[in-house]
Amino acid sequence: MKTMTCIEDLRQTARRRVPRSFFEYAESGSYAEQTLQANRADLEAIKLRQRILVDVSARSLQTKILGEPVSLPLALAPIGMCGMQHGDGEILACRAAHAAGIPFTLSTMSICAIEDVAGAVDKPFWFQLYVMKDRGFVRSLIERAAAAKCSALVLTVDLQILGQRHRDIKNGLSVPPELRIGNILDIATKPAWALSIARGKRKTFGNLAGYVAGKKDVKYLARWTAEQFDPTMNWKDVEWIASLWPGKLILKGILDVEDARIAAKTGAAALVVSNHGGRQLDGAPSSISVLPRIADAVGSSIEVLFDGGIRSGQDIMRAVALGARACLSGRAFVYGLGAGGQAGVARAIEIMRNELSVTMALTGVTSIDKIDRNVIAAS
Ligand code: GLV
Repeated sequence: MKTMTCIEDLRQTARRRVPRSFFEYAESGSYAEQTLQANRADLEAIKLRQRILVDVSARSLQTKILGEPVSLPLALAPIGMCGMQHGDGEILACRAAHAAGIPFTLSTMSICAIEDVAGAVDKPFWFQLYVMKDRGFVRSLIERAAAAKCSALVLTVDLQILGQRHRDIKNGLSVPPELRIGNILDIATKPAWALSIARGKRKTFGNLAGYVAGKKDVKYLARWTAEQFDPTMNWKDVEWIASLWPGKLILKGILDVEDARIAAKTGAAALVVSNHGGRQLDGAPSSISVLPRIADAVGSSIEVLFDGGIRSGQDIMRAVALGARACLSGRAFVYGLGAGGQAGVARAIEIMRNELSVTMALTGVTSIDKIDRNVIAAS
């Protein structure tokens, strides 16, 4: 892992080790992928201000998210099907996050169930919730997350309907993978992956086990979403969920100032400025381009988290400078998971931590609370 010096190295390795349908699931954006590309392009366009001759010998990356101490301003984002990037992927990623001192978020559409992860780690994790038409099932997921002592509920608010990802359709994405000739040939060249999956606890969506009897299409995320997710979901449902959830609530998927203002009045502890990694509304602005306006609009009334294109410590610096308390990493840690399981996720976090530390030194800041718009170079 030491020769993996940047997230792109992990990505290239994951591409070789993980079957195409799962690698491309993580990689894809919706439709023409304009928003996906804008997330990266707009981050890269933000230039940092080089400052010199400041004593930067003692630097601290520690901060707090939702009042809890973290070793750097980063959390692992909810990603569906991590357990198909590597067997037991959710457990491994959670262990790596906890060992690094940052939160892990388990997706509703995970392979390992809430209880599997809770039984395999010794600290609380966050749980991400999708709202399905069957409200009894939604309630049971919330109760299961509470019983597992999850420390925050991350409600995704930008996916009542799935933005189409062309590659998932072309690849016939399903769990377990469909045994079509193309998939069989692909999997035959990925023996380490196949072994890890064979050894993993589960081969399908763990949180849905027991719920799926009589439901078709559970193998196919896109069809399942179209059939089961609730397009009527609205702000009243946020109130309902908040009334059921005893802990901290995070609203993930806010890209508009008006929506951010409403979110700040719901009592939620945090919002995540996000366009779902460019996987939902194609043509939406990049997350980083809207972050400053949202941060200004909500002030300190709600904590502002950020995702969308984070691939380095420099990117974390950019987002924190523009108003984020912390970032969520999705693809960056998934590449680590595909490349090397728990050690790969640990490496992804370490890479971004080291980059942030050096970037702080070279911009002349010694603590996270000193990162503000002054670190951005005038354009
Ligand atoms: C689900 O959250 C997805 O983006 O695939």
